[in-house]
Amino acid sequence: MATIGKNTSIAADLLSKGELVAIPTETVYGLAANALDTTAVAAIFEAKNRPQFDPLILHTYSSEKAMEYVKEFPFELKKLAEAFWPGPLTLLLERQDKVPDLVTSGLSRVAVRVPNHALTLELLKLLDFPLAAPSANPFGYVSPTTTEHVNKQLGDKVSYILDGGHCEVGIESTIIGMEEGKVCVYRLGGLALEEIEKICGKVELKINSSSNPATPGQLKSHYAPMKKVVIGNIENDLARYVNAAVIFFGNKNINAKNQFNLSATKNLKEAAANLFMALRQMDESNAEVILCELLPEEGLGRAINDRLKRAAVK
Ligand code: TXA
Ligand code: MG
Repeated sequence: MATIGKNTSIAADLLSKGELVAIPTETVYGLAANALDTTAVAAIFEAKNRPQFDPLILHTYSSEKAMEYVKEFPFELKKLAEAFWPGPLTLLLERQDKVPDLVTSGLSRVAVRVPNHALTLELLKLLDFPLAAPSANPFGYVSPTTTEHVNKQLGDKVSYILDGGHCEVGIESTIIGMEEGKVCVYRLGGLALEEIEKICGKVELKINSSSNPATPGQLKSHYAPMKKVVIGNIENDLARYVNAAVIFFGNKNINAKNQFNLSATKNLKEAAANLFMALRQMDESNAEVILCELLPEEGLGRAINDRLKRAAVK
């Protein structure tokens, strides 16, 4: 098991030596390495069992720092960065040559993000390189929102877990880029569409489940527990199983031994913060199946529904 602590100097030291460190962000925990050290980056793929065609996000502590790794910052995306960084927003920007191919899987754009977590921002400022960091979970599984989640699954593969507590947002960043002058959303996430559109007007959604492995976050099956996940009407579906675990939303009377209420007050932010915890807990129960239902398609509800649908595909 890894050492868990709040010491950014220890984390910085290990990262400088090419080791892997798990870092807290406001969205989910990341599995970080020096983005400019290809051996260290290769270790991320190995630890996660992640295919190398799945590119990584580059984390920096400011827009200015991010500029050192990209060729241009289109006006529309700059406005989004100004409005939401640090925060749950990842931007796809044309990369400079110094960004290793392994980080972008050879693509011309690099994904960049300034995470909103005090400890990780402090850590990034101690380093003279950016951090490449995917979510700190085995490939395809649910993302971690606590140090325990990371330790359980990747504890023997990281040197240190920087303890930043429970991730506040709880769902991965929203990924945005531009195509032919239009702002496109590639992954729904912790920054709601409504917030984005307030800044840059109507955006195009390119999030459809695809079997195209060039963007695995869009794979039909992803973010998935081991157990079968069924989306439907919980009350009806409960009658069909002897031992079902239930993930629900709002004030309901559910008759199941294993159940998790994402938010009794129907608060979508609270639900997002609880989602991955809920999926993990129900996955670890002795239930035969996990029943859930879709939330309202608004605000973070969209990203939550996106994750639930991908979790339900086997
Ligand atoms: O909130 C987050 O974004 C977290 C925290 C740790 O920052 N990170 C995260 O990373 O979710 P990951 O690797 O689990 O998901 C990143 C997604 C992947 O689906 C990947 O395919 C896509 O971003 N991506 C990364 N770089 C890309 C690029 N250059 N072009 C297209 N998609 C890219
Ligand atoms: Mg991930």
